[in-house]
Parts: sequence; C-alpha cells; structure tokens
Amino acid sequence: MDKILIRGGNSLRGEVIISGSKNSTLPILFATLLTDEPTVITNIPSLDDVDTTVLFLNFMGKKAVKKGNIIEVYCSDNYDKEYKHVALHKLVRKMRASILIIGPLLARLRRIGVPLPGGCAIGARPVDIHLEAFRKLGAEISIEDGCVRTFAGNRLKGAPVNFRFPSVGATENILLTAVLAEGKTTIINAACEPEIEDLAFVLNKMGAKITGAGTKKIVVEGVDKLHGFEHEVIPDRIEAATYMIAAAITKGEVTLKKVIPHHLKSVNDKLRKSGLYIKESKNAIYAKWVKNLKPQSIKTEVYPGFPTDVQAQWTTLMCLVDGRSRIEENIFENRFSHITQLQKFGADISVNGKIVNIKGVERFSGSAVTVSDLRAGAALILAGLAARGPTTVSKIYHLDRGYDMLERKLKKLGADIIRVHG
Ligand code: EPZ
Repeated sequence: MDKILIRGGNSLRGEVIISGSKNSTLPILFATLLTDEPTVITNIPSLDDVDTTVLFLNFMGKKAVKKGNIIEVYCSDNYDKEYKHVALHKLVRKMRASILIIGPLLARLRRIGVPLPGGCAIGARPVDIHLEAFRKLGAEISIEDGCVRTFAGNRLKGAPVNFRFPSVGATENILLTAVLAEGKTTIINAACEPEIEDLAFVLNKMGAKITGAGTKKIVVEGVDKLHGFEHEVIPDRIEAATYMIAAAITKGEVTLKKVIPHHLKSVNDKLRKSGLYIKESKNAIYAKWVKNLKPQSIKTEVYPGFPTDVQAQWTTLMCLVDGRSRIEENIFENRFSHITQLQKFGADISVNGKIVNIKGVERFSGSAVTVSDLRAGAALILAGLAARGPTTVSKIYHLDRGYDMLERKLKKLGADIIRVHG
C-alpha cells in the first residue's frame, strides 16, 4: 500500500487551485439516473469515490465515461430493461454515498435493493432518516440480510417530510425521488449545505420544480420527465479549508483559486479570530500567517456552522497554538480517530465523550502514523507538514477518496512531501 513521506518545517507559499466538490459531484452523478438523455458534468475532481460512482453507474446500466475532469453519462438503448435491481455489494461497501442510488431508482424503477452502505468509519452511520422519508412518499421498505429493499407499486406520491435531523444524504435522497413523484413534497428541517443547493440547481436544469434549496424548508412539485444537463460542479469547500489551515500551521502565505469564499465563512471567521490574515475576493482567498495564533475552541454544527469535515484539521492546528482550546464534535459520534495519532507527534490532547481538550505545545516531532478515515488523514498530513523531522503516513487510500492530487498540490506549495508506492 502507498505511503506519504514528509519532512516538515517548510512554510507553504504560492497558489493552489481548489478542485470540484466531492460531496457535490457524487449526488449529481446519481441524478443522471433520473434521465435517459445525455449529461455532461465538468470540474470533476480526480478521486476514488468518483471512480467508484462511475463504476456504479455503468454497473446499473448507464454509460458513464470520465475524460480528465469531465464526465459524460449516456444511456444504452434498452436502458430500463438492462437495469440491475440490486446494487453491487462490493461497490456499496466502499462508499457511504452509494445510498443515493435508492432515490432515483425508486423514482424510476420503483424498486431497488441496496446493501447497507460502507464508507468512513465515523460512527454507526444509520439510514433511518432516509428510509422513513421514502415510506412517507409511499414506498415499502424492508431490511433483509443486510440489504435495504425498497418497492413502490404505483408512482410515488409527494408528501410532507419532517427530518428529525437535517441529514445531508437524506435531503439529497428525497430530492432525487420527489422530483418524479406525483404532487408536492415539502421537506422540513432539510440540510442547508451548499452541496444541496448545487444538486437542486442541477435538478431544476433537468426540468424539476424545486424551491427553497439551501434553507431548512424545501418544496418540490413532482414532474413526469427530466432532461439531460450540463453542469460545472462547485468548488470543494472542505479541501479549501484544509489548505487554509495548512497555510496557518506552516506559518506560510497561500492564495486559494477557484473557491467560493462565503462557503467557508465559519472556518475563516475562526481563523481570523485566531490571528491569520485573510483577504477574500470573488473566487479567491489570500491567507498569510503574520503572528503567533491564539487558541480558538470550536463546536461542529450543520451548515452554516463550523463543518464536522474540518474538525480533525482544526484539532491539529490548535495542538500547535500556545494555550488551551476545546473541540466539541456534535455531528458524528465517533470522529476522533486522529487523536491517538496526534499524540505520537507529541500533542497534549485528551478526549472526554464528544469533547477534546487541547493544551498547545511548542512543536511536533515527526512520527509514523496511520490514517483511518478521510479527514483524520488530512489532519495527520497537516501535523507532518508542521513537525520537525520525518513523518510517514500509512493507509493513505482513505485520502485518495477525497483529496485531489494532495501531495502534488502541497509539493507545489513548497512542502517536502512524496508518495512512495509499496
Ligand atoms: C455527508 O454525509 C457528507 N458526505 C459527509 O462528508 C459529511 O460529514 C456529512 O454529510 C455531514 O455534513 C457526502 O456528502 C458524501 P448526514 P452523510 O446524513 O450524508 C446521522 C467527508 O468527509 N444520521 O448529514 O452521511 C449520521 O449518523 C464526508 O467528505 C442518522 O442518524 O451525513 C450522522 O451522525 C464524511 N440517520 C449525522 O446524522 C440517517 O438516516 C449526519 O449525517 C442519516 C444520518
């Protein structure tokens, strides 16, 4: 398995182009199942999860072709007949977002079986909110042998759906179903993430009638048919936040290009309060370390609060800031796998339930660490960039799921980093 080797201590300097959003690309790819017409999606990041989804679409009967950062999705002639009614277990196991296959196929084929999804090991990751919502639209749901089977005898009927928690995936799944249901669906307590808005924008391009995306109340008027589309995926706000923190932790000076600054507001507010100089323009952000940072505690929240996907990276930064800080993880019940690894670098950090208490230390010493999930991996890379001496990071396949050309982008910014194949 590949490893990343880092010799830390270099301050990052220069420009980095942020790639398209993983968490926007995946639901938009699943949306192509809603039409028989050709679709073209651009600004696609080069990620394992994207490749898995392309495999998925082709397995399910589509013709999906990736050409650089463009994906074209067509139909074979006998599309519906060719469809598989059970998703491939080994693909679903690789990626939590596979659950998004249910929405479009329930809407079009009215039946689909999906093994319970895999993905990052961050908590139990139940799907009860998804299934409860599908039932509200008239689907019959059963779970047999670790497989979710969904069936709708007639066309699904729109209905009010009230989420107990604003689940991102469940909001996306219901949008992917309700667009072809009969009548009106109202989602109450919907997720407000930018990726939801991007998906709704694409669905409306296809002929759907969605209003309120990006707010807690989304209304969908079902239509009979959806058309092809062309779309450029929004930039990845989590990748952008990771590079902002990389600039801060290495006392560097970095310009991020192709970003949407207001998608990062909660992170940039905290970085500014901590002492990082930040200047925003229309689609770029300039970040410069100008003085020793001050500790800033965070509580992860749903958008527009501080994103859980930046919690691990922020934790690493606070470990190297003089003073005490506190991290509260409110979205996932087990998203602290990076803590024991940060202790190997010399972090003074402890976990108590959903709270992490940190006492900043002057420096990290390079170490040999192992990645266990995507964003924990980013946190360990950041630690290696700041540490004195060599760091080896193993199981970096987790990183390849969600960071496009990570070591190449960091090397271009001056990091002493290489990937070794082995
Ligand atoms: C999406 O995951 C993202 N993944 C995650 O990013 C992100 O951390 C998460 O939203 C929260 O923002 C993609 O978009 C592909 P949720 P998702 O449903 O949809 C619980 C990354 O690093 N829950 O909003 O799975 C769940 O267990 C990934 O890029 C239920 O209890 O997140 C969790 O505690 C990691 N029942 C919380 O809600 C359900 O039916 C948030 O989950 C669904 C969710």
